[in-house]
Amino acid sequence: MQIDILTLFPQMFQSPFSTGLFQRAIDRKLVRVDIHDIRDCTHDKHRTVDDYPYGGGAGMVLKPEPIFEAVKALESGLSPKQEERRVPIILLTPQGRLFSQQIALELSKHSHLVLICGHYEGIDERVREHLVTDEISIGDYVLSGGELAAMVVVDAVVRLLPGVLGSEASPLDDSHTTGLLEYPQYTRPQAYRDWGVPEVLLSGNHAQIAEWRRQQAISRTLERRPELLDKANLCLPEKQLVERLKQPQ
Ligand SMILES: C[S@@+](CC[C@H](N)C(=O)[O-])C[C@H]1O[C@@H](n2cnc3c(N)ncnc32)[C@H](O)[C@@H]1O
Repeated sequence: MQIDILTLFPQMFQSPFSTGLFQRAIDRKLVRVDIHDIRDCTHDKHRTVDDYPYGGGAGMVLKPEPIFEAVKALESGLSPKQEERRVPIILLTPQGRLFSQQIALELSKHSHLVLICGHYEGIDERVREHLVTDEISIGDYVLSGGELAAMVVVDAVVRLLPGVLGSEASPLDDSHTTGLLEYPQYTRPQAYRDWGVPEVLLSGNHAQIAEWRRQQAISRTLERRPELLDKANLCLPEKQLVERLKQPQ
């Protein structure tokens, strides 16, 4: 997968994309991430990227020209007509659709993504209207820039690419993948202070372990995020378990 990120602060991406799983994915050529400085697409002495908002008001607005130009420079594979674009051009914005595991999965199917990070009061509306094909928010709060949001999106997408996690770790049981939160995990030591590990996990009985984990995932989801259960794919005995768990103890 090719990922291009347009930003005013390229240096912010150095550390997150050069550690651990991410660096390994880059080294193994499973993903390539190119960071582009929007200021490189300005043509004045001061490399101006922002200006005052028409109509007045606080803050500055990112100008359209450098952003259109930066995307044009990536042109290979990008159709000039918005409706024909195969490569998603994603604006990070608190006004976008709320990012989720499902959206990460959807984006992981593309071979190329372009992400645009806003800053200041935001971006000239014509970028949204005539350039971007998708708008994503990572939550109902306002960040000072789109860089951290882009990192969140890229991280969630890249770990879903085939081969990135390796066979030892599967994303299939992860929280929000099956519609449930994941079951509790334990590792050695078997006894830490006075706290042990559930017996079933030491039994070596894989069927019982799988059943325990599924039940834990269901009860944990009911306890913490009950609204998720409405969309989870539960069989009849699991629905009955939910009803039993809902009864006052
Ligand atoms: C201070 S914010 C601008 C917010 C804008 N004035 C508004 O109210 O919609 C600056 C930039 O941070 C990024 N940003 C802020 N919050 C975000 C969020 N929740 N998700 C994704 N990007 C966000 C966007 O790129 C945005 O252009």
